[in-house]
Amino acid sequence: MRAGGDAPVTVAHLTAPTDHRAQMIEDVRHGLTAYRKHLASKYFYDARGSELFDEITRLPEYYLTSAETEILAERADSIMAEVQPDELIELGSGSSDKTRMLIESMQRNSSGRRYVPLDISEEALRSAALRLCDDYTWLEVEGLVGDYVPDLGKIRRRGRRLIVFLGSTIGNYVPTLRHSLLRSVAAALEPGDAFLLGLDLVKDEETMIAAYDDSPGVSAEFNKNILHVINRELGGDIPVDAFEHVTRFDRELSCMSQSLRASRDVVANIRALDLAVTFVAGEEIHTEVSCKFSRIQVEREFDAAGMRLTHWYTDNGDRFAVAIGSLQTPP
Ligand code: AVJ
Repeated sequence: MRAGGDAPVTVAHLTAPTDHRAQMIEDVRHGLTAYRKHLASKYFYDARGSELFDEITRLPEYYLTSAETEILAERADSIMAEVQPDELIELGSGSSDKTRMLIESMQRNSSGRRYVPLDISEEALRSAALRLCDDYTWLEVEGLVGDYVPDLGKIRRRGRRLIVFLGSTIGNYVPTLRHSLLRSVAAALEPGDAFLLGLDLVKDEETMIAAYDDSPGVSAEFNKNILHVINRELGGDIPVDAFEHVTRFDRELSCMSQSLRASRDVVANIRALDLAVTFVAGEEIHTEVSCKFSRIQVEREFDAAGMRLTHWYTDNGDRFAVAIGSLQTPP
């Protein structure tokens, strides 16, 4: 282990923690009093939620991780050799395996040695940063706690950038928010920089549904964990057992849609909100969209955000894609 003194690991907040809690209170109040109840998927990820998600990525049904890993293993070197970034900025810490492939490739193919992970969870960020610094003693890690859209623009530029957003996490954004996110990415790029985006592709429904409704029930546990998070963080007494995991494919939005359905009438109190919430049997709380993409759609969305799709790589099964974008060059 490197001593803290010479280890160039820092973790800084772009958003104050008190603002984060205030935001959560606001979001949950809004979501649970809405005509159709909903909760934001970013609240899945407490320590237990992150653990459950890691478990999901190891399930054979959840093909996304292995498909993306296959693409990165094959393409990381040529991407790094082409972009030659000075710094690697990652949105969401993701699975460190995939990040490691990029970091190792950076060492082989560019002079850069800066890694800047931006994540909402300080604990996840800190432990990932420390592990990476132990394994790559040449690496400078500057962890930033924050939210993508409001905070991307606050990152200080230290040379040519490769911004990466892996795992099809962009699928958690509905189209309007996705547009804002892609715009913030474009605003953080300069000519010569690049954006690397992992995307799950539209495919047969059976395959997509199995990925979000695995037989061991890990996806169901993961989904229900959001209720445990609310109970703990906001002093709630939601009976988690009274809810069941629901997943379906929404053709219009081209996304998998997850929700929790009350199997009986429920009344729950949430102390931090000073709120009693009622659910009638059969009522659902929407918790997540996981949008599925096609190449033409990604081309259009990059274009609308001021970027150009320069490369498109897929795995052998055409299940997943890695798209590379850069700023549009003025005519
Ligand atoms: C981490 C957001 C990419 O949407 O596929 C996995 C999260 N949700 N199973 C996804 C998730 C249910 C995952 N992302």
